[in-house]
Amino acid sequence: MKRYNGVIERYRKYLPVSSKTPVVSLHEGNTPLIFAPKISGALGSNFKVYLKYEGLNPTGSFKDRGMTVAISKAKEQGARAVICASTGNTSASAAAFSAKGNLKCLVVIPEGAIALGKLAQALIHNARVIAIRGNFDQALKIVLEISQNYPVKLVNSINPFRIEGQKTASFEICDYLGRAPDFHCLPVGNAGNITAYWKGYKEYYCHRKIKQLPKMLGFQAKGSAPIVKGYAIKNPKTIATAIKIGNPASWKQAVSARDESKGLIKAVSDAQILSAYKFLSQKEGVFVEPASAASIAGLFMLESEGFFSNLKNKRKEIVIVCTLTGHGLKDPQIAIKSIKHPPVVEASTSTVVKTARI
Ligand code: F0G
Repeated sequence: MKRYNGVIERYRKYLPVSSKTPVVSLHEGNTPLIFAPKISGALGSNFKVYLKYEGLNPTGSFKDRGMTVAISKAKEQGARAVICASTGNTSASAAAFSAKGNLKCLVVIPEGAIALGKLAQALIHNARVIAIRGNFDQALKIVLEISQNYPVKLVNSINPFRIEGQKTASFEICDYLGRAPDFHCLPVGNAGNITAYWKGYKEYYCHRKIKQLPKMLGFQAKGSAPIVKGYAIKNPKTIATAIKIGNPASWKQAVSARDESKGLIKAVSDAQILSAYKFLSQKEGVFVEPASAASIAGLFMLESEGFFSNLKNKRKEIVIVCTLTGHGLKDPQIAIKSIKHPPVVEASTSTVVKTARI
């Protein structure tokens, strides 16, 4: 069997790389597409829901797909340093790939708004981390300005190489299923990922690898839903810190993905996100960070609104893929906060047996 060496090697012919590109890879991609029987069952007998578990990438999020291309191209272009703003995952990924590729990595984050695991990652991979008294949108503006005036490459998803790498997730889904899904659900923050998935599906369609395109169903958090509302949000709010973004960089592209695919972008509340977060971990055995659960929260919301009712109990199988963007271990504090704390008892077998109600 051929060894797996990451998304650039696997999908080289679809990516802007040449034999001269120095590939920096951590064997990202090739993540599982897990069938979710309980979520499928909640929708109807002819529904098949799959989870694209991007938390199993090397740094625990989908960002690694784009970062392998962005960092490899930065090296090819002679860069010595990269910079990004981040709600956490981009910085974790940029820091790791920079370490592997011997680049300096500068990270600007909103103070106090980054999940613990992500901050730990950026720090341990030796990025130069600067926290600003401000939000992600302000951080992005600052790094954009710096990258235009100093010799540092921007590796946020405004960098087109990031989108190129991230589109490989669509390829993997189609290669695995032998078709495109009917619907694709995913969380929307800075809107790079919905842009990338749609680009990937369209390219596979043009290459006749798939016969139909999915409808893209994007979900923002209610307190941070600029695309849904149609205007930028000054002070975005949500427990899903990864998507706490008020003015997405790829806003226009996300709207195109929505409209071209005849899909939608809607908002889900923090309560809906937390409920889907628990459903995923307790019923499907898949631990994700809160932002990732927005995919499932959105799917459940659409179901309760009757969105799928004319597709139910038909012969035709309806295939839905939900992207789970980041691993649950990224944000252990939310997990601990949202469940009952374990009891502490004396160190005796009988007490443990009694307390456990075996
Ligand atoms: N889910 C997670 C876990 C994320 O980290 C992000 C974005 C998204 C969803 C939304 O994806 O921005 O492409 O629409 N995180 C970025 C970051 C903003 O800095 O890590 P998007």
